[in-house]
Amino acid sequence: MDKIVSLAKRRGFVFQSSEIYGGLNGCWDYGPLGVELLKNVKDEWWKAMTFREDIEGIDAAILMHPRVWEASGHVENFSDPMVDCRECKARFRADQIEDAMCGNPGFKGRKASKCQAEGKFTEARQFNLMFKTFIGPVEDAGAVVYLRPETAQGIFVNFLNVQSASRQKIPFGIAQIGKAFRNEINTKNFLFRTREFEQMEMQYFVKPGTDVEWFEQWRTLRMQWFLDLGVTREKLQWHQHEKEKLAHYAKDAYDIEYQFPFGWGEIEGVHNRTDFDLSRHEQYSGKSMKYFDEAAKEKFTPYIIETSAGASRSFMAFLVDAYREEEAPTADGNVEVRTVMKLHRRLAPLKAAVFPLVNRDGMPEIGRKIEAAIRPHFRVFYDDSGAVGRRYRRQDEVGTPYCFTVDSQTLQDETVTVRERDSMKQERLGIDAVVRYLTDRLAGGR
Ligand code: GAP
Repeated sequence: MDKIVSLAKRRGFVFQSSEIYGGLNGCWDYGPLGVELLKNVKDEWWKAMTFREDIEGIDAAILMHPRVWEASGHVENFSDPMVDCRECKARFRADQIEDAMCGNPGFKGRKASKCQAEGKFTEARQFNLMFKTFIGPVEDAGAVVYLRPETAQGIFVNFLNVQSASRQKIPFGIAQIGKAFRNEINTKNFLFRTREFEQMEMQYFVKPGTDVEWFEQWRTLRMQWFLDLGVTREKLQWHQHEKEKLAHYAKDAYDIEYQFPFGWGEIEGVHNRTDFDLSRHEQYSGKSMKYFDEAAKEKFTPYIIETSAGASRSFMAFLVDAYREEEAPTADGNVEVRTVMKLHRRLAPLKAAVFPLVNRDGMPEIGRKIEAAIRPHFRVFYDDSGAVGRRYRRQDEVGTPYCFTVDSQTLQDETVTVRERDSMKQERLGIDAVVRYLTDRLAGGR
């Protein structure tokens, strides 16, 4: 994990937020390559969802009417039990003491369980994870609003707006990507548990009685999405929530877990939320949230199957899964270790790099021409500094799938070398065919 975090910073994937001021716990900034990778993850998800006839997209506001969070149960239930250590003043989640370590100066590395056994902890008290702020200039109770802790509520409250505007019939879904905020007691493991993160959520509205079947369909589709984007099958597993531990809204819930270097962790949840959300919003708003089935001439409150993925956690799973250190031959016949990010080519932040072998004989001019031809279509990087082997390594490290090199043969027959990242195989290709070559491998739908 340390190697990946350090590479992420060095190559511009992820920086600590406000680093020059010592950082802000639980917040991270995406750098030039990170923002591309994150965008590609979100684009793949968006395509998988909204390129279907039965799913519409929305983008709801982060701030919502405070009654939304009463109806949703977040004001009452969205809390974690918290304890304080009387000695070092560290704060822990009472249900996560076992693996927790103290991070406070003077006590770093001390096991929280030790302090607990020695009776240093306060009684557990409930801590609500929603960030509160005020709307307007007066900071009183009537002006309280929350930063949304999940994007889902923006979908529930817009269910009938979307349905009537798009003339969808049940079953259909609404998809949304957006920021969510949780005042986590303990943030940890890089992007895994942060206070600001992005979710990719889809709510699928179905007729009661068909929910179990749809729940299974969506479980299959969501696992397949990660597999299609190249995540190692053995590093993915399902975890079913025990009945006693189900969230207040859920009838059944499964997590897709990824095996991170620090252990298995949830990257996406698939939940059968029943009619809980729509019924509660109907009750709290006084507005009907029922659907009228014209064919059957009946009214009912749909059940909701939710697929809820973390964009940031998925980003981290893709990054961790792609990271490899492997032996590679050098130009002088030796072997060296190369670091290579085997990202799926649709996720890779840069799609191609162009190198002139040397900075003379017209090679840079040809290289620049190739780069200019690629640039309107794909993210491309031009690099003319250092030995060509080192340039390949720099691109391997950030997952660039194709590198094109202009060499002396180019001057004779207008071909370049194309080198593929994973196999390191090289072949020759006409300059005119470069954009077509990339398009065949990178463009297209899913
Ligand atoms: N609408 C349901 C919901 O929000 P959740 O299991 O609380 O369910 C869904 O969250 C996903 O959001 C998780 O699988 C995870 O990927 C992501 N997520 C939740 N809390 C997070 C946090 N503190 N930091 C990063 N990602 C988080």
